[in-house]
Amino acid sequence: MARVTAGVASSHVPAIGAAWDLKKTGEPYWKPLFDGFEFSKRWEAEQKPDVVFLVYNDHATAFSLDIIPTFAIGTAAGFKVADEGWGPRPVPDVVGAPELAAHIAQSVIQDDFDLTLVNKMDVDHGLTVPMTLMFGQPEAWPCRVIPFAVNVVQFPPPSGARCFAIGKAIRKAIESFPEDLNVQVWGTGGMSHQISGARAGLINRAFDQAFLDGMAKDPSALIRMPHVDYMREAGAEGVELVMWLIMRGAMDADAREIYRFYHVPASNTAVGHLILENNP
Ligand code: DHB
Ligand code: FE
Repeated sequence: MARVTAGVASSHVPAIGAAWDLKKTGEPYWKPLFDGFEFSKRWEAEQKPDVVFLVYNDHATAFSLDIIPTFAIGTAAGFKVADEGWGPRPVPDVVGAPELAAHIAQSVIQDDFDLTLVNKMDVDHGLTVPMTLMFGQPEAWPCRVIPFAVNVVQFPPPSGARCFAIGKAIRKAIESFPEDLNVQVWGTGGMSHQISGARAGLINRAFDQAFLDGMAKDPSALIRMPHVDYMREAGAEGVELVMWLIMRGAMDADAREIYRFYHVPASNTAVGHLILENNP
């Protein structure tokens, strides 16, 4: 059977992708950030996941503001790297896992979560930046990826409770797939994060640390936290953090914290990263 072995949370700041692509990783501004992911790259080389179920948000790239699905699962055999205005990032295209994705869609929809099926889309920095941070710059990505796009761009995004519950349904779906596969679930976005307006650049270290602690130990308070708390405490785009709760829902209640990293700033946001492992 397929198994969800581990969960990864990571910010997906686009400037990190640009710094990598422009070979600035050794510069004083960027080095501490990339150093913080050295453990993670070694860990991934040992874990060798077959598939990553990658929760992220599309930033008006594949979906315009004309059509905004709340939860969209990528069921295609492959996904091209999006052109977000400067040409596509020079990273490999993503190979999908269409049979597993179709199985997850079937199971999760039968469990009463209404997913949008996406048979063709390009993937933006929300997906490619965490791939770079976790895998570096291979010729081809070392695993298949099921993109799972969540609306956190246009009001109203899904609640934390809904995200946590769908994470549980996704795990149940993955673990009823007959093929032996090592599957990781990733949640991306966050942390403190306000891109525009009077509060642009807002950083709330205490909130971010408490969120990391809750994710690692007991997420029950985070699951109940209303959107307005994310926005007041962590900035308007801080609401991306609800996507981490999908990953947390796919993990054991007593999942083990393997690694944690927090860094300020990258662009004008805080970067958070957490690795959890399920019990063997
Ligand atoms: C920025 C954009 C993002 O989508 C994000 O998650 C973090 C930062 C930015 O433009 O700086
Ligand atoms: Fe984002």
